[in-house]
Amino acid sequence: MFVWTAARLDSSRMNILITGGAGFIGSNFVHYVLKRRQQDKIVNVDMLTYAGNLENLEDVRSHPNYVFEKADICDRDAIERILEKHNAEAIINFAAESHVDRSILGAAEFIRTNVSGTQVLLELANQRKMKRFLQVSTDEVYGSLGDTGLFTEETPLHPNSPYSASKAGADMLALAYHHTFSLPVVITRCSNNYGPYQFPEKLIPLLIANALNDKPLPVYGDGKNVRDWLHVEDHCAAIDSVFHDGKIGEIYNVGGSNEWMNIDIVKLVLELLNKPESLITFVQDRLGHDRRYAIDSSKIRRELNWKPGYTFEHGIRETVQWYIKNRTWWENIITGEYQEYYKRMYEGREKIAG
Ligand code: NAD
Ligand code: TYD
Repeated sequence: MFVWTAARLDSSRMNILITGGAGFIGSNFVHYVLKRRQQDKIVNVDMLTYAGNLENLEDVRSHPNYVFEKADICDRDAIERILEKHNAEAIINFAAESHVDRSILGAAEFIRTNVSGTQVLLELANQRKMKRFLQVSTDEVYGSLGDTGLFTEETPLHPNSPYSASKAGADMLALAYHHTFSLPVVITRCSNNYGPYQFPEKLIPLLIANALNDKPLPVYGDGKNVRDWLHVEDHCAAIDSVFHDGKIGEIYNVGGSNEWMNIDIVKLVLELLNKPESLITFVQDRLGHDRRYAIDSSKIRRELNWKPGYTFEHGIRETVQWYIKNRTWWENIITGEYQEYYKRMYEGREKIAG
C-alpha cells in the first residue's frame, strides 16, 4: 500500500477549514494564523454551542482572509457544501464538547460531536483528497498518572471520562483513515490550556471570575490533583508547526513541563487578585477524577523545534489581567445558561467540615 510520509506541506497559499473556531483554542488559533500567515485563507465552521462565541472574533470579522460559516460538523451535506464553496484543501478539527464535568452530566453530545462529527470530517477530507487533516486531541486520552512518570506518544490509551473516551475514539478513527486510505492525518495531544477567551466553566477562568465577584472558589476533593498548564498561544504555535511540518500519520504530545496542584493554582490566583484564602471552598470530588497529567513533549521539541514561548509566571499574570480588562466578555457569559449549569454542578456540593 502507498503510504504518505512527506513532511513539509508545500503550498504557497492554502484554504484551511478549521472547525470550532469560535471556542477558546480555535479563536486563539484564528488570531494566531491571521497574524502570521498572510497567504492562508481561514474558513471557520462552528455551530455556536454554549461554548462558541463570535465576540471572540469580532476584531477579524471583516479580515480578507477570514470567513465564518455556521454549521454542525455532524451535518454531512452542510459541511460538504462549505468545503466545495471555499475549495478547502485541509482541515484542522478543534470542534468538540470539551468539558469533563459536562460529559459526566450527559455523554451523548460528546459522542455525537467528538466521534461522529470527526468521522464526517474524515470521510469528506478523504473524498476530496485533502492535503492535511489535523486532529486536535488531548493528553487526557492517556488516562491518569501516579506521582511519577510522563505521558509519551507510546503510552497506551486509557481514557477515564466520557469526554476523554470520545476524544480517544476520534483519534483512533483519524489514524484508521490514515492507515486505510492514506489520508494525510496528524494528531496533537496537548495538556491543559489557559489564556484569553477560555469559557469560565474551566478551572482558571472560573477561579478568576469567582474571585473577582468575591464568590467561593470550589476545589474538588483534596485539591491535590495535578495538571500541566500551557499558554494557549503556545498550543496554537504547536498546532501550526505540526500542521505544516509534522510527519504524516504521527502523533505529537504538546505540554509545558509545568505541573501544578490545583490548590496551588487557586492560591496563586487569589494572591494575584489580592483576595483572601477564605474564599477557598472544598467540594465533593469529581467522579472518576484523574489524579495527575504530565506530558513528555520531547518529540515535538526535538523534531519540529517547538518550545513554549510563555513562562507560567508571565502567562498567568497576563491572563488574570485579560479577565480584569474584559469583564463584560465573561459577565455576558455567566448571566445566561451558565447560571443553570453552575447551580446543577455546584449547589449542595460543599464538603461538610469534620
Ligand atoms: P471549547 O469548548 O472552548 O470550544 C469548542 C468549540 O466547538 C465551540 O466554539 C463550539 O461551538 C464548537 N462546536 C461544538 N460542537 C460542534 C459541532 N457539532 N459542530 C461545529 N462546532 C461545534 O473548546 P476548547 O477548549 O477551545 O477546545 C478545542 C479543542 O482542543 C477540543 O477538541 C479539545 O478537546 C481540545 N483540547 C482542549 C484543551 C483545553 O485545555 N481546553 C487541551 C487539549 C485539547
Ligand atoms: P478543568 O479546567 O475542568 O480541566 P480538566 O478536567 O480537563 O483537566 O479542571 C482542571 C482541574 O481543576 C481538574 O483537576 C478539576 C479541577 N477543578 C476544580 O477543582 N474545581 C472546579 O470548579 C473545576 C472546574 C475544576
